[in-house]
Amino acid sequence: MENIKPLRFGVLGAAKIARSFIAGVAPSSLVDVVAVASRDLKKATQFASELEVPRAHGSYEALLDDPDIDAVYVPLPNTLHAEWVIKAVEAGKHVLCEKPIAVSKAETLAMFDAARRNGVFLAEAYPYRAQEQTLALRRLLDEGAIGRLQTIIACFGVKFSDPANIRLDPQRGGGALLDAGSYATNMVRMVAGEKPTRVNAIARWSETKVDLTVIANLEFPGGLLGQIACSFNTAYHRHALIAGTDGILETTFLNSPPEAGPPEIHLRRGVPSSTPRETIAFAGGSGFLAEAENYARAVALGREHWNGSTEAESIDTVATLEAIARSIRSGNWESV
Ligand SMILES: NC(=O)c1ccc[n+]([C@@H]2O[C@H](COP(=O)([O-])OP(=O)(O)OC[C@H]3O[C@@H](n4cnc5c(N)ncnc54)[C@H](OP(=O)(O)O)[C@@H]3O)[C@@H](O)[C@H]2O)c1
Repeated sequence: MENIKPLRFGVLGAAKIARSFIAGVAPSSLVDVVAVASRDLKKATQFASELEVPRAHGSYEALLDDPDIDAVYVPLPNTLHAEWVIKAVEAGKHVLCEKPIAVSKAETLAMFDAARRNGVFLAEAYPYRAQEQTLALRRLLDEGAIGRLQTIIACFGVKFSDPANIRLDPQRGGGALLDAGSYATNMVRMVAGEKPTRVNAIARWSETKVDLTVIANLEFPGGLLGQIACSFNTAYHRHALIAGTDGILETTFLNSPPEAGPPEIHLRRGVPSSTPRETIAFAGGSGFLAEAENYARAVALGREHWNGSTEAESIDTVATLEAIARSIRSGNWESV
């Protein structure tokens, strides 16, 4: 292990996902979660004691004022990301923010500008990006293993029906598109290596008036055609199929394999239907751990070590999600 001082993290909010993050990074010697904050001190204290975090703060501001915190993990409802990320970077903290980084491109640009002005590192959390499954997929694409890319289809579906879940609340940035759809869109943007020019989309709606299921088509300037599907009303599935002129690649782009099957990539190098299908298997493990350690390295050694969503990818992902939302309402192609 490199000689890097552990990055001291504080967590804003006693969120469900924060439990997985804190438990996931616990074995790390590069990352220490040293404090959690909740809007309610009792809740923060209880959360900290359950997860063996040394300090609890009764407000988010108090955590940002804590001088012994280097970086902040933001797992708040989507509509609060921009406000608290900007406050955190202005307090001089590096920030790892849950996906989607924000609910609009304008917010996202303001967040990255604030991080730049304050000389800190802001990144969006997509644990699948730190997994060997995804890193190997990127290497195969870079080597031209399947020729020139023609189509990519990425889908992510889960079931959420509890109306108390923030995901079903339109006031807190709910809806399948911003949640599961951000994963599929980030995956497509990563593979494309560029921003789509235009999108069209259709949706089905929940009783709480958030998008429950969405399908969108994406057109890229280089010729690639993409499609994303996301839903809060299906059995769990997560899959991407990339087809090139000389072969195909399939991945499950998992966060923390083997959460939903083994972390494998399937590759066919060849055009005929008789081309054998190679299976490439990986060890997998906590995506939170892999992501947080990679983030700590990027803070300590330089941003070029970051293997997650880049600033451009995060901005383009949100801009694409916004254009998809516009297309759902207008019924037309919308430019990104
Ligand atoms: N990377 C992934 O795979 C993944 C998975 C799940 C979720 N996420 C993302 O993580 C974020 C949180 O999701 P979650 O399911 O963990 O949420 P959650 O359990 O509902 O937690 C959100 C936290 O935000 C705080 N909060 C502040 N203002 C709030 C308000 N007005 N309403 C509700 N909560 C408020 C609360 O903490 P206090 O009450 O303690 O202040 C709450 O515990 C979302 O952005 C989501 O997209 C990512």
